[in-house]
Amino acid sequence: MISKKVNLEQPTQSIQCQVGAFNARNLPKGSKTEIPKYEFPEEGMSPRAAYQLVHNQLSLDGNPLLNLASFVNTWMEPEAEKLIMENINKNIIDVFEYPQISRVIHQNIVNTLGRLFNGHNTEFMGTATAGSSEAIMLGLLAHKWNWKISGRGTGKPNIIFGADAHVSWDKFARYFDVDAIKIPISKKTRIITAEAVSKHIDENTICVGCVLGTTYTGEIDPIKEINDLLLECKREKNWNIPIHVDAASGGFILPFTEPDLEWDFRLDRVRSINIPGTSTD
Ligand SMILES: Cc1ncc(COP(=O)(O)O)c(C=O)c1O
Repeated sequence: MISKKVNLEQPTQSIQCQVGAFNARNLPKGSKTEIPKYEFPEEGMSPRAAYQLVHNQLSLDGNPLLNLASFVNTWMEPEAEKLIMENINKNIIDVFEYPQISRVIHQNIVNTLGRLFNGHNTEFMGTATAGSSEAIMLGLLAHKWNWKISGRGTGKPNIIFGADAHVSWDKFARYFDVDAIKIPISKKTRIITAEAVSKHIDENTICVGCVLGTTYTGEIDPIKEINDLLLECKREKNWNIPIHVDAASGGFILPFTEPDLEWDFRLDRVRSINIPGTSTD
């Protein structure tokens, strides 16, 4: 999200100041009741006033429990909330001070997830990230480096994914100077096909992106068929093109509801997976 500079020359008070009945009630007696919106105030304010100000602003947001429209419901067990609050004051940048979180629990989680996604016979590694976008960037960057090291192609690297992939895929292409080849989605099936992917593959393809539960429709790309196509490429041309599975919306559901559906490390070409908040390769 990008915010632009606001013109403070405009005379309206609502543009310049936080307005609301809470201001006067919560500010110390004698202080100004106007709290500037876009500048540091001359005077400080009590924690109570600051709390009330932000609390009131946030009250206009939607209710996550009722959010069935854009993203998934985010209810948590109270114990999960308790754990978050117990640890919220730890600055994880200081990893040596907090080895339980940064090493022990992290190691447990990466291993558990690697095995959940059938990485039993492979050497897997993974990391916690701030969200799926970061996980996707890290996975795809690894594929860009592997392509570079392989010496497979000398042109501009490209990446193939469906036009309905999450915007983080476009961001990756822009940030890391890779051509995004976006396959149009058929209105009927709402997924990409192996046949469409095959038309775009070349020696500069660093990776094919498949989505397991797209952001907009929840559809699943034909990962096994695309895996078979890439295996054929490997056999015929010796191109080791990997698949990254964006499982941000389905990765914690499908292993339990559809354990026989092959979409994970059981497939040879699936080399990296991101799931909510975590990436494992
Ligand atoms: C399929 C898919 N990929 C990636 C993302 C990006 O996740 P985040 O917002 O955690 O970066 C989302 C977010 O909804 C998503 O649905």
